[in-house]
Amino acid sequence: MQISFTLNGRPTSVDVAPSMLVTELLREHLNLTGTHIGCDTSQCGACVVHLNGAPVKSCTLLAPALDGATLLTIEGLQGAPGSNRLHPMQEAFRENHGLQCGFCTPGMVMTAVALAQDKGVLTEAEVRHGLEGNICRCTGYQNIVVSVMAGAAAMHAANAGE
Ligand code: FES
Ligand code: FES
Repeated sequence: MQISFTLNGRPTSVDVAPSMLVTELLREHLNLTGTHIGCDTSQCGACVVHLNGAPVKSCTLLAPALDGATLLTIEGLQGAPGSNRLHPMQEAFRENHGLQCGFCTPGMVMTAVALAQDKGVLTEAEVRHGLEGNICRCTGYQNIVVSVMAGAAAMHAANAGE
């Protein structure tokens, strides 16, 4: 079946099988490999994308469900519309060493952006609770938590300055 949706701001039409997962569609058919697959039990969160503005684990979503929807992947994040700059949350991860191998990072960033959009400036407890669905095998989480708090503060400051 053919589906049409908005992918990272662009109208997109593709043929998908009824049983195709969004992770497979993104990585194997649309060459968007920033969305990672870290488990087969829907636990790790490496595959988080935004569907109609809300974070979802794309390994739990069938591609036909995208018809008519708006999807944002890590490749679609940017500092400002039309700019080549990193999103403030990505900058915060870079500045605060919020990663080691980086495998979990796209999912962490997408979850964190949604959390900050939902709640604004975040406390450590809010960040730790909000990241419960994202697993990191490397960092011990401390720098990730610091990064997300800094990224949320930067997003809040940028919105206040608009
Ligand atoms: S790949 Fe989706 S939760 Fe692990
Ligand atoms: S940085 Fe390696 S899994 Fe998180």
